Amino acid sequence: MPQHVQGVIAPGRNEPVRVETIVIPDPGPGEAVVRIQACGVCHTDLHYKQGGINDDFPFLLGHEAAGTVESVGEGVTEVAPGDYVILNWRAVCGQCRACRRGRPWYCFDTHNATQRMTLLDGTELSPALGIGAFAEKTLVAAGQCTKVDPAVAPEIAGLLGCGVMAGIGAAINTGNVSRGDTVAVIGCGGVGDAAIVGARLAGAAKVIAVDIDERKLAKAREMGATHTVDSRTADPVEAIRELTDGFGADVVIEAVGRPETYKQAFYARDLAGTVVLVGVPTPEMQLELPLLDVFGRGGSLKSSWYGDCLPSRDFPMLIDLHRQGRIDLGAFVTETIALDEVEKAFARMHEGDVLRSVVVF
Ligand code: APR
Ligand code: ZN
Ligand code: ZN
Repeated sequence: MPQHVQGVIAPGRNEPVRVETIVIPDPGPGEAVVRIQACGVCHTDLHYKQGGINDDFPFLLGHEAAGTVESVGEGVTEVAPGDYVILNWRAVCGQCRACRRGRPWYCFDTHNATQRMTLLDGTELSPALGIGAFAEKTLVAAGQCTKVDPAVAPEIAGLLGCGVMAGIGAAINTGNVSRGDTVAVIGCGGVGDAAIVGARLAGAAKVIAVDIDERKLAKAREMGATHTVDSRTADPVEAIRELTDGFGADVVIEAVGRPETYKQAFYARDLAGTVVLVGVPTPEMQLELPLLDVFGRGGSLKSSWYGDCLPSRDFPMLIDLHRQGRIDLGAFVTETIALDEVEKAFARMHEGDVLRSVVVF
């Protein structure tokens, strides 16, 4: 029987989001209905609302979520009713070239649930990133569910579904930070701070945080940065060089998504160093660099897609590390809010003192 639940939709470009009744169909083959317990508010939800991703309004927003599997469709073996899960953006196929080559985060044949959630009048909803978790329940592919230890609270666990995983993964998966490395992180919002946590976890000797906001730098220190640079008052490239005996950092993680900060990352790295772009640029942004500098500086220039994560490997691992007290994922939760406060949380994102607002159910 289809169920009626409350969910937050973005009705049209730049229109305020609102709570509506959503119709959730029974799970079909390979699908699961998940009772959402918590879902973080991410910049990507705001981009959906602004029409910056695509025009498939109305959207059912929310995609950083943890919850409990309520029912599963035919043929589902990955999860069972009662399992505590973190949701991920894509159920990878396991068959395509990217999957077979061990890079499933680039899978081009994802098997997410078909979009069948609607408003009461039958209007079809587009779930954000194939999830749509600002709702009491949502319909996903079973392959989008990763079972984790239920001892970790949902408002903490859910964050691994997007921003925190993107940042930690940028350091440990994409950047391959190694013991003793020097690491610089440019932009210390939720993603940059997670990159700092990842760099520490991987054994970095120095972790240099760069931002234009003193509050962000103070938080970055709490997250494990060993040095901070305010790039309004100091040239970050020179400052990073000075802090690394003139060499530059082994790994520089750009977590802003702008050409200026990317250039800083490019020049702040050691000659053989790695630049990881995890900040998301907008379509009109262009990068101009002397080609000779690209040639002469060696190293590698990478971008990190969802932290190059493998949910089934990385989510349970990070949950375990959190339980052991080796990382503190709770530090990313600034506030918990109710479902009807998502619009307010979007406004607060720009105020600078929120890492994550998390809707709890
Ligand atoms: N130099 C250094 N830091 C900067 C600069 C700059 N020129 N401009 C902005 N910042 C800092 C901000 O002060 C803020 O602390 O970058 C940080 C960006 O953080 P958030 O806005 O909180 O974004 P976050 O959620 O961390 O995501 C970062 O990754 O997922 C993408 O779309 C997201 O592109 C964004 C990036
Ligand atoms: Zn695939
Ligand atoms: Zn997100």
